[in-house]
Amino acid sequence: MKIAFTGKGGVGKTTLASLFIQTLSSDGKEILAVDCDPDSNLARALGFENADRITPIAHMEDVIQERMGIESGNKSFFKLNPKIDDIPDKFSVSKGNIKLIVMGAVEQGGEGCMCPESAFIKTLLGHLVLKRNEHLVMDMEAGLEHFGRGTASSCDFVLVVVEPSVNSVETAKKIAGFAKDIGIKKIYAIGNKVRSKGDADFMKRELKNIQLIETIEFDKSFLEWGRGSSIPVIPKEITKRFGNIKRILEEDLN
Ligand SMILES: Nc1ncnc2c1ncn2[C@@H]1O[C@H](COP(=O)(O)OP(=O)(O)OP(=O)(O)O)[C@@H](O)[C@H]1O
Ligand SMILES: [Mg+2]
Repeated sequence: MKIAFTGKGGVGKTTLASLFIQTLSSDGKEILAVDCDPDSNLARALGFENADRITPIAHMEDVIQERMGIESGNKSFFKLNPKIDDIPDKFSVSKGNIKLIVMGAVEQGGEGCMCPESAFIKTLLGHLVLKRNEHLVMDMEAGLEHFGRGTASSCDFVLVVVEPSVNSVETAKKIAGFAKDIGIKKIYAIGNKVRSKGDADFMKRELKNIQLIETIEFDKSFLEWGRGSSIPVIPKEITKRFGNIKRILEEDLN
């Protein structure tokens, strides 16, 4: 199963992606977790030791230069088809059956820029989605820019995280529109930070034709987690909801 978590800034993408990864990992199957957010923090959410010391792929200048065939620092010319298949195993970090790849931030040289770093990351992401057999869970930033059409159409689900606010619903609608345009088959919403039935009703109503498959309560223990403490004990009720999301997606795939 190949899934991208996306949504407006701060809605809980990383938190929910990491909880979903843990739910999948309890089956014992291999999982590839990919942090596609330039402001990377999935490693910490997943409880990787030395999370801050993981070098993101985008910062591996020597590797990128070598693979992209850049000579004498001239970044105007680079390979369109770099060798990439050994990168996931070489440059991921592991914890049990979870492998994590941190993509990192690419310095953008202007709108529409296709520098070697971003071309390398795009190719790598394409490889992960198209060629690898593990479960793939990607923590995206709000956009889905790194997805080319070919990559997108092989992604099984985009899960848009929404909180009970007009802005996050509007972002979800924009993402859903874009996802459809680039050929993503299934887009579902997960409501987060829900404090009342009114919150859930609001999201359901405003999301219109984006199906809300599950809602996750606002929970104080998550706030502590966000402040840097280790993974909290997740309330049983919330664990159950992630099991439910997994079941819905698995059934949908079959
Ligand atoms: N259900 C929840 N209940 C309470 N707090 C939550 C919940 N989900 C997430 N949070 C908190 O909200 C904050 C933002 O969460 P998170 O970092 O997962 O969001 P994000 O969408 O990944 O943000 P960013 O756009 O910065 O990557 C964190 O402090 C997190 O602990
Ligand atoms: Mg995040």
